[in-house]
Amino acid sequence: MMAKLAEWKQIGKWTMTVGAVLVLGACGGNKGDAAKADAPADSKGGNVELTISCGSVGQDYEMCKKLTDAWAQKTGNKVKLFTAPNSSTDILALFRQQFGAGSSDLDVVMIDVVWPGILKNHLVDLKQYSNGAESKHFPAIIANNTVDGKLIAMPWFTDGGLMYYRKDLLEKHNLPVPKTWAEMAETAQKIQDAERAAGNKDMQGFVFQGKAYEGLTCDSLEWVSSFGGGSFVEADGKISVNNPQAAAAFDTAAKWVGTISPKSVLNGGEEEARGIFQNGNAVFMRNWPYAWSLMQKDDSKVKDKVGVSPLPAGGEGGKSTATLGGWQLAVSKYSKHPKEAADLVMFLTSPEIQKQRAIEGSYNPTIPELYKDADVLKATPFMGDLYDVFTSAVARPSTVTGDKYNEVSAAIWNATSSVLNGKSNGADAAKKLEEDLTKIRRGDKW
Ligand code: GLC
Repeated sequence: MMAKLAEWKQIGKWTMTVGAVLVLGACGGNKGDAAKADAPADSKGGNVELTISCGSVGQDYEMCKKLTDAWAQKTGNKVKLFTAPNSSTDILALFRQQFGAGSSDLDVVMIDVVWPGILKNHLVDLKQYSNGAESKHFPAIIANNTVDGKLIAMPWFTDGGLMYYRKDLLEKHNLPVPKTWAEMAETAQKIQDAERAAGNKDMQGFVFQGKAYEGLTCDSLEWVSSFGGGSFVEADGKISVNNPQAAAAFDTAAKWVGTISPKSVLNGGEEEARGIFQNGNAVFMRNWPYAWSLMQKDDSKVKDKVGVSPLPAGGEGGKSTATLGGWQLAVSKYSKHPKEAADLVMFLTSPEIQKQRAIEGSYNPTIPELYKDADVLKATPFMGDLYDVFTSAVARPSTVTGDKYNEVSAAIWNATSSVLNGKSNGADAAKKLEEDLTKIRRGDKW
């Protein structure tokens, strides 16, 4: 039996929300740049209803609503929003269930940069609809999204791990922005102690993504790679994690838990970390670019108090590493309206909309040209200042491990989690992870 969206409602907090639909000429508050972007003529005057799943982290939902409304208004079609869970791991489980059942309930899906190898058989080749628009995007992302010659998704925004810090607190305590993890821990401890002594009992040194899910794989890769310990599985397929630098990286992170990081990080993802930091209760936070725009809002307790830097480097011989993240828009092979769905994808991934999303939501564009745009750089200065962080971000081993990537990642987050939770140490966890990955690989090839 086909899994229907209606049944998803029963799955705990996963709810489906029907987005209000703007029809042509209706009064709407969305007269932003989006409305100016031209939709291809052949999609005008349509009357189909599409459902899109486009994220629920930070401003994902609101921005998706506003921009899909703009497309609906231009074309006469309708768009409903499906509210996905906010963990990448949970979204993947849902999509696999839907696609496995051949369900046509979702037309357009937002997919993680690490999923092309997993979802390739369920997505439409967008080359037939793109008119070559892909040539404007970062070639590496287009290559990532091209499987067996098919362009299965258009890049929507790219991500790289960043260090957010409290400018005001570093100044107050006369301490520099840390360059290594050791300096970070020392600075975090000093400021945490001083602020607590001064009455702010809730002050934490450092918050990150510590629960066992895809986000922990991202953080873990940053630690391991920054210590010179590789990226678990290398581009040639070799399993590399069982090395002393990787073990040292795991042990370093474990020491933060219960000292500069609250134990609650072990159950938290991006939004939990942002909640603590944005409430003024942390000195440092590891997070993605989306968090920036939310820090600048009037209701943010840290408005104008936040700086952004590359993540710290590991120990000797270490370097600063950001994990490459990002999301794409794809059309389900089971959609009843692939042409309109593709038109919506091309609209949302266009330079005009990416510019608007960069300015209003600090979503990093996937179009290099936009990193020179004065309006983008004014709203989100780090996109220019930290451009290299994004272009040299380290990929998770998803291309080489293909459809096994989710198993690989689960092994990585579980190994990392076991050390953070004090159930293992770095060296044992690295060894066990090597064994687990070898079992997943089964033989010489992934
Ligand atoms: C961000 C990244 C994505 C990653 C996820 C993990 O959304 O863009 O690539 O998988 O975080 O939580």
